[in-house]
Amino acid sequence: MKRTIKDLVNLKGKVVLLRVDFNVPMDDSGKILDTTRIDNELPTIKYLVEQKAKVVILSHLGRPDGYDIRKSLWPISIILSQKLEANVSFCNYCIGEEVRQRIKMLPEGEVLLLENVRFYKQEEECDMKFAREIASMGDIFVDDAFGVAHRKHASNFGIARILPNAIGFLMEREINALNQILDNPRRPFVAVLGGAKVSTKTKILEKFIDKADTILIGGAMAYTFLKAIGQDIGQSILNTESISVAKAILDSAKEAGKKILLPIDHVAMHAKSKNIVTTSKLTGDLIGFDIGPNTIDLYRKELRAAGEIFWNGPLGMYENKAYRNGTRSIAEIIAHTKAYTSVGGGDTVATVNLFGLLDKFDYVSTGGGATLKYLEEGSLPAIDVIQEKIL
Ligand code: 3PG
Repeated sequence: MKRTIKDLVNLKGKVVLLRVDFNVPMDDSGKILDTTRIDNELPTIKYLVEQKAKVVILSHLGRPDGYDIRKSLWPISIILSQKLEANVSFCNYCIGEEVRQRIKMLPEGEVLLLENVRFYKQEEECDMKFAREIASMGDIFVDDAFGVAHRKHASNFGIARILPNAIGFLMEREINALNQILDNPRRPFVAVLGGAKVSTKTKILEKFIDKADTILIGGAMAYTFLKAIGQDIGQSILNTESISVAKAILDSAKEAGKKILLPIDHVAMHAKSKNIVTTSKLTGDLIGFDIGPNTIDLYRKELRAAGEIFWNGPLGMYENKAYRNGTRSIAEIIAHTKAYTSVGGGDTVATVNLFGLLDKFDYVSTGGGATLKYLEEGSLPAIDVIQEKIL
């Protein structure tokens, strides 16, 4: 078990370097479009403030190539200050004399947000000199950035190798929730997996053949599975290179006595006329874009009987209203089951949010890639490097 901030004693006056994931959607004017990741971080920050630590926050935002004003964390300091109802100061740098002075002058129990750590190329290279420079300004490192814990970067993996450390409340919650899915799911455990490419879901499918009782497949990757069992898929998206992988996944599920269900009908478009039809056969110039009503009924039966459900990946091309019904219906069915429900992955969470159903899920993971990776591997590099709790 990892050391948490509750295990840290005498934080008064200590400089706590807190790594968070404030990678929030923001438009070019700096308007924050969704504050979920900031809201989720408040308990950790408030706790450190209550302990009278000097809280110095590090985060990335986007994938900038060097300095980019549109990716500045400055707008976040304003929102954070409003949410905390306290002063949050901001520094334009992560290293250098100015940061040192600002930390020195920071009163106990106050918060300083540093600029986007990805403005420094050393961050993603996990440059240990850079990590040491940041670490030298702090006494303790707290990692609460679950969303980026699958990356070995200087400001998470690097600093944790240098300073005494612990995880924050958000990281602890994510680890516990994902461990319960892996170790002790309520039965029957149904996993719903969608998305475009088989290759990005291969490992998680293999994991769920082991852990889940039933897997429901949707999204564009379903067509590769249908091809693998010899069905015609018309002109639907096909990951040719993954047909054999899809076949192997279906075979190993069969061998393990696990159910994998594939769509039995589709909402599809004729490539030539652009007419949209509902069909059980994808022939000729038809392109499948969503699961059809019979598939929704079939999946509903499994979901209603489930004790636990994990969902990742849209079931169709939900961005287009004509192909949104499958994803919306499955979201509604899951949201209203008696099962313990969790959802993970950036796109999937955004979709559930779009349907106004997020608060109906028992657990919403804040990670995208990190959530899937954790479920695949059972841990992540930036978590592994944190000290174990002394029991
Ligand atoms: C995310 O949004 O998934 C995390 O913040 C990680 O971002 P990254 O994929 O750019 O590393």
